[in-house]
Amino acid sequence: MAKERTLSIIKPDGVRRNLVGTVVNRFESNGLQVIGMKMIHLSQKEAEGFYAVHKERPFFGSLVDYMTSGPIVVQVLEGESAISKNREIMGATNPEQAAEGTIRKEFAVSLEQNTVHGSDAPETAATEIAYFFSETELVNPVL
Ligand code: CMP
Repeated sequence: MAKERTLSIIKPDGVRRNLVGTVVNRFESNGLQVIGMKMIHLSQKEAEGFYAVHKERPFFGSLVDYMTSGPIVVQVLEGESAISKNREIMGATNPEQAAEGTIRKEFAVSLEQNTVHGSDAPETAATEIAYFFSETELVNPVL
């Protein structure tokens, strides 16, 4: 197993409902370490850029509206197989299909307001991390 980095977002519904600590605890207690974190409020342009891969999808406009509706927390998680581990901890995109005990099963409001985002592959992780963080904003983990 290799050490990886992945981008995680706590979406507006999670921040609004005071779930930041709860969500971060899920990652930390499963062996992922936060090596960069900030709270930001995306502009429309920033949200459109981040989700550009979905721009032809019917839900794109609504997704951008939602992602700009309030602050989010962006964080970089590091650990063994961090990309797949993060996705396991989050659960399926659609909370109705998410496994018991996952963040989305327990906390998501809907398919759109699904509380968290996580990179899906090494290439997207690199792109998504660079979208929000410069290398100097990421600390060297102690573990
Ligand atoms: P996320 O993992 O951030 O990736 C794209 C987001 O679009 C997804 O989570 C949901 O918040 C949102 N979304 C809304 N409708 C859909 C859909 N039908 N399929 C996938 N994602 C959707």
